[in-house]
Amino acid sequence: MSTQHGPRGQAPGPGPHPPRITRRDRGVLRTKSIEQSIQDTEEPEHALKKSLSALDLTVFGVGVVIGTGIFVLTGKIAKEQAGPAVALSFVIAGVVCALAALCYAEFASTVPVAGSAYTFSYASLGELPAWIIGWDLILELALGCAVVAVGWSGYVRSLLDSVGVHVPAALSGSHGGHFGFDLLACVLVLVITAVLVLGMKLSSQVTTVVVGVKVTVVLLVIIAGAFLISPENYRPFIPPSRPSAVGGGLAAPLSQLMFGFTPSDFGVMGVFAAAAVVFFAFIGFDIVATAAEETRVPQRDVPRGILGSLAICTLLYVAVSIVVTGMEKYYRLTVDAPLADAFKHVGYPFFAGLISFGAAVGLTSVCMILLLGQSRVFFAMSRDGLLPQVFSRVHPKFGTPHRSTIVLGAVVAVVSGFTSIDVLAELVNIGTLFAFVVVAVGVVLLRRSRPDLPRAFRTPFVPVVPVLSVLASLWLMLNLPAETWVRFAIWMAAGFVVYFLYGRRNSRLARYLRERDAAGARP
Ligand code: ALA
Repeated sequence: MSTQHGPRGQAPGPGPHPPRITRRDRGVLRTKSIEQSIQDTEEPEHALKKSLSALDLTVFGVGVVIGTGIFVLTGKIAKEQAGPAVALSFVIAGVVCALAALCYAEFASTVPVAGSAYTFSYASLGELPAWIIGWDLILELALGCAVVAVGWSGYVRSLLDSVGVHVPAALSGSHGGHFGFDLLACVLVLVITAVLVLGMKLSSQVTTVVVGVKVTVVLLVIIAGAFLISPENYRPFIPPSRPSAVGGGLAAPLSQLMFGFTPSDFGVMGVFAAAAVVFFAFIGFDIVATAAEETRVPQRDVPRGILGSLAICTLLYVAVSIVVTGMEKYYRLTVDAPLADAFKHVGYPFFAGLISFGAAVGLTSVCMILLLGQSRVFFAMSRDGLLPQVFSRVHPKFGTPHRSTIVLGAVVAVVSGFTSIDVLAELVNIGTLFAFVVVAVGVVLLRRSRPDLPRAFRTPFVPVVPVLSVLASLWLMLNLPAETWVRFAIWMAAGFVVYFLYGRRNSRLARYLRERDAAGARP
C-alpha cells in the first residue's frame, strides 16, 4: 500500500509547510492547502523541470488556441447559424473567455503547480469538486485533442488529394454514416506523444516553429483577403431568423427549448448559438495555467501568458471572420476548408494551397499542447492519489511524466481513429465552460478562506468579475444543444462512480489525515 502511494513510500508528512487542515477535512470536501500543493512539487521524484518563460507560455497559448475553430468552424457556423455576424459570435465567445481568463490568472499565480483548474479547485473548493473538474478537463483536453487530430487529418488528405495521392476510404475516418478508421489522425497523436515524452524544451521548440507558420498563414488570410472583399456580401449582416435545419427536440439549443422559442437558425439567437460553438476556437488559453509548475517565474509569467495569448487570438479571429464572409457570400462558404476554399472561389488557388498547408501544420501544435495539458492534469491527479500513482513518476532523464503521457497518447490515438468531429466539439465546449464556472467560484471562495496568500495577479472587481464569468459561461452552455447536456451528464455521472470506487479511498490527503488522526489517538 505505502509504495503505491507516496514518493519514498510515505504519506505527505508535515514537512516544512504542515498541511493546513480545514474544518471540512473529514469528507469529500477536504481541501489541500496551497502550501501543501507547492510542497508536493518540490519532492525530487515528482518535480518537473522549471524551464518556461512568459514568451514560451504565450507561444503555447497561441499554439493551442488557433486551430480547428478558426480554420474549420468559421465556415460551417457562418453558413448554418450566423452569416457574417459570426464575427460577433467570436466577440461574444472572446468576452466569455476574457472574464474566465481574469479568474484563471489569479488562481494560476496563487497556486503555481501543475493541473490547472483541477489544482485550483482542490485548494479552494475541496476534493470532490476538484475530481469533478479533473474528470471534466479530460473532455476538454483529451477529447479536444482527438477532435483536432481528425480535423488535421481532413486537411492533410485534401493536400494529398491535390498532389494525386488518395488515402483509401476505409482509412479516412467516418463520414455521413460510413465507417472508416482515421489512420492519419491516429499516427499524428502517436508521433506527438513521442515528442512530449522526450521533454518540454524540445516540445516548446517544435511548437515555436509551428506557431510561426500558423500565425503567418492567418495573417496571410487577413491581409490578402482584405483586398478581395465585396461589401454587398455583408448584407444582411445578421441574416433573419428561420426555422432550424436540425428541427426541434434534443438537437436544439437548450436555451431555445427552455424559453419556449421555436428552434431557429440565424437572427440574434443564432448569433448566440454560434458563439457557443465557435467557443471551441478559444479553448486552450487556460492550458497555459497547466504549465505553471514548469515556469521559471510563475507569479509574473503565467498571467502574462494567459491574457496575452487570448488577446492576440481574439483579434485574429474577428479579422479572419470579417474578411472571409466579405470575400464570399456566407451561404456559399464550404464546411471542410472554408478559408482555403474562399480563395479558390475568387480565383487564387495558390493562396488556397498555402492556407491548407498552414492549417495542417497549425493543427499539429494544437493537438500537441492539448495532449500536454491533459498529461499534466492526469499527473497532478495521480500525484494526489485520485488516480493510480504509477502515472506521476517523472522520467529520470527527460524530466517528463512519461507514463501518463504514453497512456493518454495511446487512448487519444485510438479515439481519434474512430471519432467524427461534430458532436464531440460541442461536448468539449460544455466541459470547458463548466470548468470556467468552477474556477470563477473558486476565486471568490479562496479570497474568503485564504486572504493572506500572496497573489501576483488579482482578478479586478471581485466578486463582480467572477459572477459575470459564471453567468456568461452558463449562458453559452445553455446555447448548446440539449443532447450535449445529456451526454455531459452521463460523462460526469461516470466520473462520480470512479471517484467513489477509487479516488476517495486512495486519496493521498485522506491517507495523511487518517494517519494523523491515528497518531493523535495514541497515548
Ligand atoms: N482552440 C482550439 C482549436 O480551435 C482547440 O482547434
